[in-house]
Amino acid sequence: MIMAKPLASIVSAGVSRFGPRQGLYSRELFVEAAQEAFERCPKLSPRRDIDGIFVGQMSDSYEHQAHIAPMIDDWLHLLPIPAFRIEAACASSSVAMRSAIFAIQSGMHKVALVGGVEKMTNLPTARVTEILGMASDFPFEQWHGITFPGIFAMMATAHMAKYGTTEQQLAKVAVKNHENGALNPKAHFQKKITVDDVLSSRPVAWPLKLYDCSPITDGASCLVLTSPALARRFTDIPVHIIGSAQVQDTLGLFEREDVASMAVTKLAARQAYKMAGVNAKRISVAEVHDCFTIAEIIAYEALGFCKPGQGGKLIDDGATALGARMPVNTSGGLKAKGHPVGATGTAQAYEIYLQLTGQAEKRQVKGAEIGLTQNVGGSASTGVVQIYRRGD
Ligand code: COA
Repeated sequence: MIMAKPLASIVSAGVSRFGPRQGLYSRELFVEAAQEAFERCPKLSPRRDIDGIFVGQMSDSYEHQAHIAPMIDDWLHLLPIPAFRIEAACASSSVAMRSAIFAIQSGMHKVALVGGVEKMTNLPTARVTEILGMASDFPFEQWHGITFPGIFAMMATAHMAKYGTTEQQLAKVAVKNHENGALNPKAHFQKKITVDDVLSSRPVAWPLKLYDCSPITDGASCLVLTSPALARRFTDIPVHIIGSAQVQDTLGLFEREDVASMAVTKLAARQAYKMAGVNAKRISVAEVHDCFTIAEIIAYEALGFCKPGQGGKLIDDGATALGARMPVNTSGGLKAKGHPVGATGTAQAYEIYLQLTGQAEKRQVKGAEIGLTQNVGGSASTGVVQIYRRGD
């Protein structure tokens, strides 16, 4: 297999601390993430080098603040360079990444700051649930009271009915991701839990219980992206993006043929693997979209880490734990690291950047060479899969 020519290169990355960040607005969270990225890359002079900003944000309702692109530009002291806000529900910053890749590939931009942000914890859970729910179909889903925990619970019951997946297997995803989150100083939750903790936690939407759900989180993340030709001007170890694919499906879950799988992830993975010239076996480390534990099990299958229906067995075997054959969500995933929705895509890429450049500290996967991120928006109406290679 011959690996593809890189599409673009990551030369630095940063994330804010994730969790309830009382008293901070998204502008401050984004600056916190950008500061880390700038500190990691002393050869970058932000004002001289960065010529475009791409920010993913799901909703302007959390802070009653639209038009955040110029605000982020201003708070980073980068005015008057062009800044773009991109929305694709929970996949907003992955789509922002793709937009930045297009901008670099076209030659219109040379160095882009791309990231995402969401400030969610200042509203009561019921209101946050309603805002998140706006990413589902209004007349056929929202209007009937269906929420995202409800949507993913329907996927879980379909998977259980079709393949015999159990509540214990779902719980093991949460246990693994909390174990990794306990090693991540930026994670929302940094405490280990047991299968019993998950099974005895309060029901949210059966079979999903409190510990099967990602939390409501504040946070921001960003990457500094440039062309492969310019990357070495900024760093000795760039991380090249060698595959990037985005696929859409119906907005409503009710219109899907098979709700026990994720067609967007399956197709995007196929396209991204082909573009990158690698297959699932070559992936050293992956960050997948575990907004609810069932989503990680479905992702294993859609990404080809195991056969359809075998996701429960893969977690039973411990194959996706840190130190095992195929580590998944070393950051703690959305489950433990947190899910500030607009920030999630580039936060996944941040973890892969750390892993491939040997900066993941206690979470480091030895010899990690090729990484993958999988991010979905809504009930998997948008799916993005991207593949990364450590620069040689
Ligand atoms: N996992 C583990 N613990 C959680 C948690 C989660 N997902 N959410 C909250 N907690 C903890 C809190 O830290 C708090 O602990 P403490 O008492 O020790 O301080 C306790 O549970 C109560 O928290 P609270 O904020 O009152 O919970 P809640 O009932 O308001 O919210 C959920 C819980 C699961 C409903 C909420 O986290 C949620 O909606 N998650 C899904 C978000 C979502 O849909 N994202 C988009 C996906 S597509």
